[in-house]
Amino acid sequence: MICRILLLIILTSCVSGSFVVNVTQTCYQAEENHNITLEWTFTTKPDSFITSLKIRCSRPELSVLYQVHEGVEVSESQDAKFSGRVQSDKDALREGRIRLQLSRLRTDDSGLYRCEVKTNNGSSFQDCKLSVTAADEPKHQTPTMNPQTESRGRIGLYAALILTATAAALLITLSLKAEKRKCKHVNSHSLSSVVTSTSSSSESLPASSSEAPPISFI
Ligand SMILES: *[C@@H]1O[C@H](CO)[C@@H](O)[C@H](O)[C@H]1NC(C)=O
Ligand SMILES: *[C@@H]1O[C@H](CO)[C@@H](O)[C@H](O)[C@H]1NC(C)=O
Ligand SMILES: *[C@@H]1O[C@H](CO)[C@@H](O)[C@H](O)[C@H]1NC(C)=O
Repeated sequence: MICRILLLIILTSCVSGSFVVNVTQTCYQAEENHNITLEWTFTTKPDSFITSLKIRCSRPELSVLYQVHEGVEVSESQDAKFSGRVQSDKDALREGRIRLQLSRLRTDDSGLYRCEVKTNNGSSFQDCKLSVTAADEPKHQTPTMNPQTESRGRIGLYAALILTATAAALLITLSLKAEKRKCKHVNSHSLSSVVTSTSSSSESLPASSSEAPPISFI
């Protein structure tokens, strides 16, 4: 995940040169039914540039939540599931900030959001991640008077299932091991030699700097 984001940052900065889109936050967390404002920033040029501005903010499965074409918001392309739930800050847009308020959040709003900005001077995009946690639902818990016995029964069932699954997995791995014993043997040998060599080198490190107090004890 982090690698992907870093790669994107590197890629976008390489490809687009002077024009950049940034995210102000790579991850957002919110609760169901609440609102959240996702924000991107992009390189701004003198006032006239807004007329050539194209913005497309979407989910990876291509459902569009916000689109601007030549400086004008286009609502037709917006996916129905975002209808009436996205508000943009038009003043911020002039300052090179895309601020999208997503309201009445649903758990299926969780995921990646990408804003791609195009101007005559180049284009760039950036992703951020939103995770929407379900609101607590006390209604579903109160009617059951004895949830403990029920949950105990369930735990017993789960435990039995897990035990059988583990036993089956053990049998399978054992039979696999028996078949591939030679291969395993070689692997474990080379592994253990690596482990011992690294551990000996790490042991030699504190020994060489034995006069300095070890940092890990502070
Ligand atoms: C969410 O936004 C809507 C309108 O955009 C507003 O009416 C509502 O009060 C907001 N809710 C919260 C929890 O901020
Ligand atoms: C994007 O981020 C870089 C590095 O954090 C920063 O130097 C640059 O000013 C930012 N650009 C915009 C348009 O926010
Ligand atoms: C593109 O950027 C350069 C400076 O980086 C600027 O002089 C020029 O006006 C920009 N062109 C457009 C169409 O925004």
